[in-house]
Amino acid sequence: MTGIDDWSGKTVLIVGGSGGMGRATAQEFEGAGANIAVADINIENLPSQYLAIKSDIIKISDCAGMISKTVGRFGRLDLLVNAAGVWVEGESSEMSEDQWDRTIDINLKGTFFTCRYAIPELEKTGGQIINIASDAGLMGSSGAAIYCASKGGVVLLTKALALELAPKGIRVNAICPCDVETPMLEFQARQFGGGNPQAYLAKLKSIYPQGARQRFAKAQEIAAFIFAIAQPRLAPITGAALPIDFGTTAGR
Ligand SMILES: NC(=O)c1ccc[n+]([C@@H]2O[C@H](COP(=O)([O-])OP(=O)(O)OC[C@H]3O[C@@H](n4cnc5c(N)ncnc54)[C@H](O)[C@@H]3O)[C@@H](O)[C@H]2O)c1
Repeated sequence: MTGIDDWSGKTVLIVGGSGGMGRATAQEFEGAGANIAVADINIENLPSQYLAIKSDIIKISDCAGMISKTVGRFGRLDLLVNAAGVWVEGESSEMSEDQWDRTIDINLKGTFFTCRYAIPELEKTGGQIINIASDAGLMGSSGAAIYCASKGGVVLLTKALALELAPKGIRVNAICPCDVETPMLEFQARQFGGGNPQAYLAKLKSIYPQGARQRFAKAQEIAAFIFAIAQPRLAPITGAALPIDFGTTAGR
């Protein structure tokens, strides 16, 4: 395959690449010819052509290891996509230290340390980082203070890294999706839906301004956006936190 969206010979590492958005992103770049590495706590059922790296990003050594294994196998790293994350919600007056630590350690600290170890390799290739934050990193979500803190952290982490790494030729962006049809959304509805997941999902959907056309985003739509902003012709985009949210963060 040749052309402006040709990624053959380039390498993409997707952290959380076994999940909904991560898997769709892997498929998008695989279709453009990229070498694909996936780092996740769950690496079962990944296509055999992917480099599957069992990793828990709570562990700093795993964050370092996934970069060295990717470069060891493919010789280079062009794009790091941080798609691992966990959801938590509940009354703040009832949240535990464990819930805080797990959410911040995975969503924020893990994201930082995968970036930290990727920087020297991305500098060699003029590569880039795309972090999946959330609309909950751009505005408050009642009942999700810890998750919002983690994703708001990812947004400003992204902006600070973009400034720091610009002289090295590395772009860093965050995308901020609304609710997306993935295993995470199913988990949310099951775990926090008070026994009525359909009502939980209907309430989430009711905030979208599309009226009778209200729907959740699809993982493939998020992946298509990640693929688009990763292209060299969009080189001016760095330090951005880009909403993909049907306008939910545009105002009221
Ligand atoms: N689904 C949504 O509605 C939504 C909306 C906005 C943002 N997000 C964010 O988008 C990202 C992708 O979410 P998704 O919906 O695809 O979720 P998902 O649950 O389908 O996928 C998340 C992946 O992260 C992996 N993971 C979790 N903890 C990990 C750890 N400690 N180490 C390594 N891997 C780990 C999981 O195994 C899973 O494969 C997450 O950061 C999530 O917070 C999701």
